[in-house]
Amino acid sequence: MKLLIDPKGKKYLMTKGETEMHTQHGVVKIAKKDGVNKSHMGTEYLQTEANFIDMLLNCKRGPQVVLPKDAAAIVVHTSLPVGASVVDAGSGSGWLAAFLAHYVGPTGKVTTYEKRKDFAKIAKENFKFLELENVKLKNVDVTKGIKEKKLDLITLDLLTPTKVPNISKSLKAGGYVVVYVPHLEQAETFVAFAKKQGLYFERAIEVIEREWDLKWDSLKERMGAIGHTAYLVFCRKV
Ligand SMILES: C[S@@+](CC[C@H](N)C(=O)[O-])C[C@H]1O[C@@H](n2cnc3c(N)ncnc32)[C@H](O)[C@@H]1O
Repeated sequence: MKLLIDPKGKKYLMTKGETEMHTQHGVVKIAKKDGVNKSHMGTEYLQTEANFIDMLLNCKRGPQVVLPKDAAAIVVHTSLPVGASVVDAGSGSGWLAAFLAHYVGPTGKVTTYEKRKDFAKIAKENFKFLELENVKLKNVDVTKGIKEKKLDLITLDLLTPTKVPNISKSLKAGGYVVVYVPHLEQAETFVAFAKKQGLYFERAIEVIEREWDLKWDSLKERMGAIGHTAYLVFCRKV
């Protein structure tokens, strides 16, 4: 898929089969060669190949999604290997599951649990759009239990992570459970719950991302920095 970037950095993703894009500054016809491409009004766009994150950020949103800054912190702090086996719940819009599926690659596998049919449909549409074949969605309540075993990672982004039974049994030695919770009290409650299952609390973090607009005469922070989204709690089977 092709991506067009306007002079202010705004991105337009061309979906498959599209040959032109209607932008703020006129119509841009896709050129055979990537590079500078002008709209019919003369505005210069940069045309290039879209990458996974360009496509992910264009996916549908149902419930609140996990953004790449937090998803990236999960793979870094769990040292998630390519080829890993992962369970994620709830799927919601499928953004975190999709990021993890892309990251573990075709030799890895992500199973994601979602209890609501409407959200399951959104997540599945997003997986299809991203052409991910290593992610399986189970339209099942995860509090009934995780069937998968020997997992490298379990991610829980739902209201009641402490209702998910036998997390430890599903993890391989050294595997992680990571919960994504908006409030510190929920993080503390989860840690107490995880400790009772014999899991080791490794760390809790919050990821703040500030983007800078680099103009060489004056450095100023760009509006739209991503502040607090949630706390990430990492517990490990040791
Ligand atoms: C905030 S959303 C998850 C967003 C997702 N991480 C993403 O990045 O798109 C929380 C989801 O958990 C689902 N959920 C809540 N309790 C659940 C349960 N017991 N089993 C499965 N899904 C559940 C909700 O229906 C909702 O779709």
